[in-house]
Amino acid sequence: MATILITGATDGIGLALAQQYNTAENRLVLVGRRPFPSLTSPLFTAQTYCQADLAQPDAADTIASWLAAQGITTLDLLIHNAGTGYYGSLAEQTLDQIDDLLTVNLHSPIAITHKLFPLLQKARGQVVFVSSVATAVPSPEYAVYGASKMALEGFARSLRVEWQGQVTVQTIRPGATRTGMHQKIGLTQEKMNWEKFPPAEKVARQIIWAIERKRPSTTVGLGNKLLRFVGRNGRSLLDPILRKNAPQLTQSHQPAAPTCLITGAADGIGRALALRYAQAGYRIIGLDIDAEKAAQTCAEIEAQGGQADFVLGDLSSRAGLATILPQLAPLAPFGCVIHNAGISAVGRFEGVPLARQQAVLHLNLHAPLWLTAELFRQNLLTPEASFVFLSSLSYFASYPGAAVYAASKDGLANYARSLHAAWRGHCLTVFPGPVRTAHARRYSPDNSREDGRMPPETLANAIFHAEQAGKSRLIPGPANKLMGSAGHLFPGLLEVGMKKVILEKLEGGR
Ligand SMILES: NC(=O)c1ccc[n+]([C@@H]2O[C@H](COP(=O)([O-])OP(=O)(O)OC[C@H]3O[C@@H](n4cnc5c(N)ncnc54)[C@H](OP(=O)(O)O)[C@@H]3O)[C@@H](O)[C@H]2O)c1
Repeated sequence: MATILITGATDGIGLALAQQYNTAENRLVLVGRRPFPSLTSPLFTAQTYCQADLAQPDAADTIASWLAAQGITTLDLLIHNAGTGYYGSLAEQTLDQIDDLLTVNLHSPIAITHKLFPLLQKARGQVVFVSSVATAVPSPEYAVYGASKMALEGFARSLRVEWQGQVTVQTIRPGATRTGMHQKIGLTQEKMNWEKFPPAEKVARQIIWAIERKRPSTTVGLGNKLLRFVGRNGRSLLDPILRKNAPQLTQSHQPAAPTCLITGAADGIGRALALRYAQAGYRIIGLDIDAEKAAQTCAEIEAQGGQADFVLGDLSSRAGLATILPQLAPLAPFGCVIHNAGISAVGRFEGVPLARQQAVLHLNLHAPLWLTAELFRQNLLTPEASFVFLSSLSYFASYPGAAVYAASKDGLANYARSLHAAWRGHCLTVFPGPVRTAHARRYSPDNSREDGRMPPETLANAIFHAEQAGKSRLIPGPANKLMGSAGHLFPGLLEVGMKKVILEKLEGGR
């Protein structure tokens, strides 16, 4: 008998999956947030239904305790299906809504996978992440949703390499489906007629078919496969069309002396960017947590004849942001915003404490989304301000040994693409490879070839020129460009390479 756990089993695709898996050969574990007495289907019994709200930070513990109480010690199939969304202007989505969405769609699947790894490992089981075809195209009206699903894909891709031979990891992307989700996220039928979408039962059948084939990733349905192909390969045609048709975010500030806001500006790439933009005549507003390094960078800029102010604080928490924001308002408007601050956590996913991995998601993904939303909401930007998002070459290559870092950077790149469609100014996404900074030294499995890493000044210069030229993507350096193309065309090959170059070295070094 196979034990199958499905999250979000009370409605839509999850319910249809539960109905189709409900055979004598399977033992179902159905997870939902609704109270048990409110469920009318005979599928839900005290032995099958586990109530857990995935918007709560303890959801993984609740599920693990429920499984233990039921005497379930192995798991053959774990389907992360629960999902939520938000439809509307990126500037109107509150920070609570951003956090809720990221918690349900990203944090909870990661936490549950972390917690249930021993059960999956015992069964040599399979874990499935339900993503969406929306990850292949910019989605200006559900940018955070797209980012959450892309982050999930980035996580799954790296985890697949780490868990090869132990647990099968799959990503499945349905397209638009006739479920209650559209209404729940605030869409109306005038905006989107979901009645014409395929029913959940049909999509669930296609998902089960894909699960049985165990392919690393599957897009459900021919039309969606085509959409994904166009979204991935025709971005230079598609994105300008979407940009023209999307409702545009506006800001009423008059352009002032050019001011550049840089997160993590005290050290590494951020410091190099601060120096480069100051050299070009920008007034620098740096955000950082390190007072000593911030003072040094400030002094260096001033010694060059530039102007800089630092706001000190912890961007990775809502409390930190709440102290930073009031200090930013008097320094606005910003003509350029560079989301650079980032950390990593390296090691096999199941071996790195979850709290450390969540901290990575908070600084690398939540913080830029929060800050961007607040800059729009508080009208702190010039009318055509540029945004620069520091993603990573892992977007093309995967990053086994830092699966959650990869998730954060893939999510960020997807968000930037959606923002680019919704904003009159430019959004540049940068995909750097190894850079000669303390960050690289701290997280790399092998520092013997430090000289091969790109100097931060070279990267900062390339970013400055790409941003000024209004480019939307930058893979800096010919070797990285080659790797980016190879990763796009032959993802499997790159993953094998990354396993050898990163994961095996990381483990050899322990
Ligand atoms: N529908 C589409 O067009 C479409 C397209 C691509 C991908 N997807 C993805 O497919 C998956 C299923 O979507 P769907 O269309 O079936 O949506 P749905 O009908 O709204 O069902 C979503 C399920 O997730 C549950 N859920 C939401 N928030 C939760 C929380 N905080 N804790 C626990 N459970 C929670 C819902 O519970 P309630 O019953 O209490 O609401 C429901 O059981 C999602 O991951 C979605 O992103 C959907």
